[in-house]
Amino acid sequence: MWTDFTVLGIESSCDETGVALVRARAGEVPRLLAHALHTQISMHQAYGGVVPELASRDHIRRVLPLAETVLAEAGETLDAVDVVAYTRGPGLAGALLVGAGVACALGAALAKPVLGVHHLEGHVLSPFLSADPPQFPFVALLVSGGHTQLMAVREVGSYELLGESIDDAAGEAFDKSAKLMGLGYPGGPALSKLAEQGDGAAFKLPRPLLHSGDLDFSFAGLKTAVLTQARKLGDELDARKADLAASTQAAIVDVLVAKSMSALKQAGMKRLVVAGGVGANRHLRERLNAACAKAGVRVHYPELHLCTDNGAMIAMAAAMRLQAGAEDASTCYAFDVKPRWAIDSLSAAPV
Ligand code: KG4
Ligand code: ZN
Repeated sequence: MWTDFTVLGIESSCDETGVALVRARAGEVPRLLAHALHTQISMHQAYGGVVPELASRDHIRRVLPLAETVLAEAGETLDAVDVVAYTRGPGLAGALLVGAGVACALGAALAKPVLGVHHLEGHVLSPFLSADPPQFPFVALLVSGGHTQLMAVREVGSYELLGESIDDAAGEAFDKSAKLMGLGYPGGPALSKLAEQGDGAAFKLPRPLLHSGDLDFSFAGLKTAVLTQARKLGDELDARKADLAASTQAAIVDVLVAKSMSALKQAGMKRLVVAGGVGANRHLRERLNAACAKAGVRVHYPELHLCTDNGAMIAMAAAMRLQAGAEDASTCYAFDVKPRWAIDSLSAAPV
């Protein structure tokens, strides 16, 4: 039974190296002692997207210095670490192997157990690190770069998929639309910044599957519609770019808000948790806040700086899994990673 313990968490699934220290106490929500992050954005920018091999090599360079920073910031040494957690998947295979290798080597050297964490479970549980943590059960809207999913979450480890994107994720729709507007990588933050100066009703863009009656999403067609509109504008594109950005954002947000509200109704729940990089989007937050206030639903978000990938959410997910008895950490230091891994294959504590 895990009661009072400290987790060192390592995230390396894509283009951010994150390390964090989280402390768990019996009967309390685990709390963050320190975290450190290195983003590879500037390194990948020259290529317009993430280059997997460069990502892996950079994780190797960053991970141990980040761990030293975190321990120093927390005023701790490796002696304080009871469990080493790492992102086991989903993500880029080579990038995942760096975090997994370092975590298992550290665990073996310290003779402490290790735990491989599902990256998306980290996102879903990241609002528990905020000043206003949610309570179970809730509907989760997970909007990361690679995933758009609605889930009914009843407890740690119990993730019932209600709907998901059948093609591009919302984050991809932001990124790809931004790219074809010449806004660079990563497109989400750039597009949403430009959208603040534009009119979201300027262009009529499709709201795919808005009235499909289910909770699935499809964003691939939207990107094509943005491309068609951009071509139609021709020389005028530069002058109308903010309007096109605002209209694209409005289309994505409309669908996310409508489906989240339907999911709450279908699950009979009054609590919504938003997680993943797109959860940092201001327009999405404003629209969800308004819709939830109207429906009497409480909505929770991660702290803005913990919406995108970080080590804190990995250490937190490990701490919560151990606290809940959903899993035990292992002293077998052989590891494998899972570049593809369905979140609804995880399990809760046995009853
Ligand atoms: O969760 P995340 O860091 O990575 C994955 O696990 O995939 O999410 C990254 C995604 C990218 O698509 C990025 O463009 C998007 O989140 N994003 C945003 C914003 N900040 C990050 N999208 C819209 N508005 C934002 N403010
Ligand atoms: Zn992520």
